[in-house]
Amino acid sequence: MKKYFVFFLLIILQQSCKIPKEPQDFSAPAERGLTAEHAMVVSARKEASEIGKEIIKQGGNAFDAMVATEMALAVVYPYAGNLGGGGFMVYRLKNGKTGALDFREKAPLGADRNMYLDSLGNADPQKSRFGGLAVGVPGTVAGIFAVHEKFGSLPVEKILAPVIALAQQGFVVTAKQAAALAHHRNSIIKANHENVLFAQSYEAGDTLKNPALAKTLQRLAAKGREEFYSGETAKELVQFLQEKGGIINMQDLAAYQVKWRDPVTFTYDDLRVISMSPPSSGGIVMGQIMKMIRPYPLHEYGHNSLEAIQVITEAERRAYADRGFYLGDSDFVDIPSEMLLSEDYLKERMSSFSFQKATPSSTIGHGNIPVAESLETTHYSIVDAEGNAVSVTTTLNGAYGSKLYIEELGFFLNNEMDDFSAKPGVPNMFGLVGAEANSIAPEKRMLSSMTPTIVEKEGQLYMVLGSPGGSTIITSVMQTILNVTEFGMGMQQAVNAPRFHHQWLPDEVRFEPNGFSETTFNTLQQKGYNIEVGESTIIGKVDAILVLPTGKLEAGADPRGDDAAAGF
Ligand code: DON
Repeated sequence: MKKYFVFFLLIILQQSCKIPKEPQDFSAPAERGLTAEHAMVVSARKEASEIGKEIIKQGGNAFDAMVATEMALAVVYPYAGNLGGGGFMVYRLKNGKTGALDFREKAPLGADRNMYLDSLGNADPQKSRFGGLAVGVPGTVAGIFAVHEKFGSLPVEKILAPVIALAQQGFVVTAKQAAALAHHRNSIIKANHENVLFAQSYEAGDTLKNPALAKTLQRLAAKGREEFYSGETAKELVQFLQEKGGIINMQDLAAYQVKWRDPVTFTYDDLRVISMSPPSSGGIVMGQIMKMIRPYPLHEYGHNSLEAIQVITEAERRAYADRGFYLGDSDFVDIPSEMLLSEDYLKERMSSFSFQKATPSSTIGHGNIPVAESLETTHYSIVDAEGNAVSVTTTLNGAYGSKLYIEELGFFLNNEMDDFSAKPGVPNMFGLVGAEANSIAPEKRMLSSMTPTIVEKEGQLYMVLGSPGGSTIITSVMQTILNVTEFGMGMQQAVNAPRFHHQWLPDEVRFEPNGFSETTFNTLQQKGYNIEVGESTIIGKVDAILVLPTGKLEAGADPRGDDAAAGF
């Protein structure tokens, strides 16, 4: 157990997704806590939110804004915004109809369950995180075109025009962005060479232009989805990857398809939560946790009180244990979703909980269900002028993904293959352990924690939210919902509030600094909880929208990043 813990710490130290150490700036500029009458876009960057808002102002709907915002983030937030990654979208139409789109990366046709094992049979994280072999078949471009085809109202050329202009004219590098680029500079050079655009030194205030990406986007605007999956862009991509030791070929790109899926839905008091289904674990795990904590009077315990932390931690521990065993790509494995979310099963799971003492994770396995076999990411939330809502989380996995940057095309490639379980029981970069359900197979999608979510109250649109943060995504989203519904906070306040996280293994509760008392920590330790408080720990970056009783929209843009809202 101790060996495992040390290994996890090492992973945490190395893991590329970690935000560079810098003081947390919780001062809220005007774009935070913004309220608007008609429409709102909240994303990791002001420029992306503004472009999304303008598209709606020009008569576009939330789906047109999704296409624009997704691509704008690829320009202005290459840390996670992408053409070379994937993601998930949950939506709710103005008529109340809901759905989800899976544009997650897939394993290449030549993938093999043992592809990341060395000659001794040990998992080699270098292979699943860096270089060509780490890259999953990208889904983002297929995602935006699928959204546009089904729901778009403006022409693609019109939607992409401001994004192309942004890539051509450049954007201003923020202090956080300059720090992140400096932090990852050596690994970007190692994966590519010294002269690539993102290996240059940038200071806050510099303007960064990406003409290569502008050209790629121009080709996509003119030729559509196939440009990426079988056209010139596809050929460049495959040639580049093969030089870097990758196995993705033209057949892989041609075979890539998005999937429209039914979201996971569950109730919590008077709320109906609509969230992402497998291959994301987000909806199911969040549903399990919220149903396990539901019988406890959290509101009476108080926000971040000892009792609330205990109840939530113990529910998280049990849900993440199930995640590791039962969850994977539902196109490949049977997932007992109904059972995992059933009241009786979850009541039984919580029956070993006591306020007196922590339940050690070593004594908790996955539950017994007989039928079953088996930072960096970014989130944006959109509500348009008609009341359609879109919740999208998209990722390259690690910061700048595999760090592989295609100069000719102007974008980074993901290292999403690390989200598979390379070997049962061996943790991935987020310390998550998996099992057979998440083993590698050709064309399979790797299990995700991304949790794009929409919440209804009394049948009406209430909240749109999500977060980056690997394994901490699910608990960040859930705490934000609880902050509003149990603890009476507004949207911005709920997003700002300090967060904590437990994921079964490693057996520790991680806390953000500030906002938790020494007494709480001491009592938790006395009760047997291992606690981990990092001075610069950031848990999630939530971008959210709340529909106020007046019908106005309130944004919550996370001050942990450069996140900003735009609305009118
Ligand atoms: O899909 C997932 O769960 C991960 N690839 C997400 C990665 C992430 O959130 C990185 N951000 N810190």
